[in-house]
Amino acid sequence: MRESEKLKVVIVGTGYVGLTTGMALAYLGHRVICVDRDSKIVEKLKAGIPTIYEPGLKELLEEVGSAVAFESDLVPVLNGSDVAIIAVGTPSKDNGDTDLSFVEAVAREIGRTLDPEKSPVIVNKSTVPIGTARRVETVIREELERREIQGRISVASNPEFLREGAALHDTFYPDRIVVGTEDIGALNLLRQMYAPILEQTFTPPPAVPRPEGFSLPALVSTSPTSAELIKYTANAFLAMKISFINEFATIAEKVGADITEVAKGIGLDKRIGPGFLKAGAGWGGSCFPKDVRSILFTGRQYNCELALVQAALEVNRLQRKKVIEKLQGLLKVIRGSTVGILGLAFKPNTDDIRESPAIDVIAELLDMGARVKIYDPVAMERYHQSYPDQQVVYCATAEETARDSDALVLLTDWDQFSHLPWEEMAASMGSRVLVDGRNLLDGEKMRALGFAYSGIGR
Ligand code: UDX
Repeated sequence: MRESEKLKVVIVGTGYVGLTTGMALAYLGHRVICVDRDSKIVEKLKAGIPTIYEPGLKELLEEVGSAVAFESDLVPVLNGSDVAIIAVGTPSKDNGDTDLSFVEAVAREIGRTLDPEKSPVIVNKSTVPIGTARRVETVIREELERREIQGRISVASNPEFLREGAALHDTFYPDRIVVGTEDIGALNLLRQMYAPILEQTFTPPPAVPRPEGFSLPALVSTSPTSAELIKYTANAFLAMKISFINEFATIAEKVGADITEVAKGIGLDKRIGPGFLKAGAGWGGSCFPKDVRSILFTGRQYNCELALVQAALEVNRLQRKKVIEKLQGLLKVIRGSTVGILGLAFKPNTDDIRESPAIDVIAELLDMGARVKIYDPVAMERYHQSYPDQQVVYCATAEETARDSDALVLLTDWDQFSHLPWEEMAASMGSRVLVDGRNLLDGEKMRALGFAYSGIGR
C-alpha cells in the first residue's frame, strides 16, 4: 500500500468485531489504534496475547507488530484520525430491545473530544437497531453544542457479517461490504480503507489463506437505514433457514427420510443455496438470538408482525427440547442416569458458549436429576466462569466423558469428535446411547458399535 493510501483508523471496542477488524486493517497497511476501556484487555493485547479464541488471530497479532497500537483512552487518539469505528457491545435487554448504552457512551465521548476540523468519519460497526447511525450523530452534535462548537460530522453504518471461528477469514474475504451513508466523502474514504479487500491486492496472511476461486466482493452503497436493516435481514434470514431445515428434520424422521439428503437435494437449487441447511440442535451464539429478538422488538414498535422470524425463534427453542426427548426415548429414565455432553461451544472453532444449545440441555438434564459430565476442546474455562455453581463433572477428554456414562449427547460439531476412538468409548460406557445433535457421525457405523444412535432428522 502506498504511503498516501494509508489511513489512521481508531477502533473502539476489542471484542470479536473490533479486534479482528483492527488486525485485518493493520495487516493491510493502515495505522490502527484499538481502544478498550478495560486496561487488562489492553495490557494483554500489548503483550501479544489474544483475548478471544479465533483461528489465525495469534499469528496475525505477531505479524502486524507495531502497525497496531492498543490504548485504553480514546481522547488522545481521536482527533486527526481518518476513521473512527465503533465496535462496542450491544447486548440484549430482557424485552428483546438492544442496550445501546455502550454505543451512546462512546458517541458522547467522541462529542466531548471531537475537533470538527480534524474529525474522522465515524463508523457504526456494532450491530445496532434502525436509526442508530442518526442517534450517534445526534449525541455527538449535542455534546458539540454544549461546547458551543459547530462543524460537519459524518456518521456511516458499516455492518459486519463475520462468523465467529472464521472472523478473520470473513474480514479478508467477505461476500460484500455494505456502507450506509449519505456523505459521498465518507463513502470514498471507506472505499479507500477497504480497497485492498475489494480488489484483493494483498498477499494473504499464511494463517488466513485466500479461498480458491474467490471472486471480488461487492461494495454495496446504501442509506444508513438500509445498511442497518440489511444486517438484521441477513441474520434473521439465516436463522430462519436453519429453523426451516430443523422443522423439516422432524417430518423427515416421521416419514423415514434423511434430512441431510433432503438438504442436499434442495440446496443445489441456486435459488435456495446449500448454506445454512444443516439440521441440528439449533442456532445459538452472540448474534442470531440477539438480532432475531431485536428485529422482533423493532417489528412490535412499528406494529409490524414478523411472523416468520417469530416462528424461527420458537422452532429453535423447541429444537433443544427435541434433544432431551430423544434421550428420553432411548434412555427412558433420565433421573439417576449419567449423561456425557460433548461440546459446549455454540459451534466449533470458538470458545463462545453464549446461547449455546448445550447450556439449555445441561440445565434441563440437571433439573431432571441426571448426573452430567461435560467436555469441550476449548470452552471448558468459559463454561466454568459463566456457570460456576452448576453441579457438573468436568472431564479432560471425550473418552473420560464417555467412561461409565449411560448416554452421550454431541452438541458441537468439533471436527475432532468425528475422529474419536468410538469403539473404546462404547466399551467404557454403562449403556450405549448416543444422541448426535449435529449429525456429525456416521449413524450406521455407530450402530455397528452397539450404540442406540439418534441423529436429527435421519
Ligand atoms: C452469525 C452470522 O453467520 C454472521 O454473518 C453474523 O455477523 C453473526 O452471526 P455466528 O454467530 O458466528 O455468525 O455463527 P454461524 O456460523 O452463523 O452459526 C450460528 C449458529 O447456527 C451456530 O449455533 C451453528 O451451529 C448454527 N448452524 C449454522 C446450524 O445449526 N446449521 C447451519 O447450517 C449453520
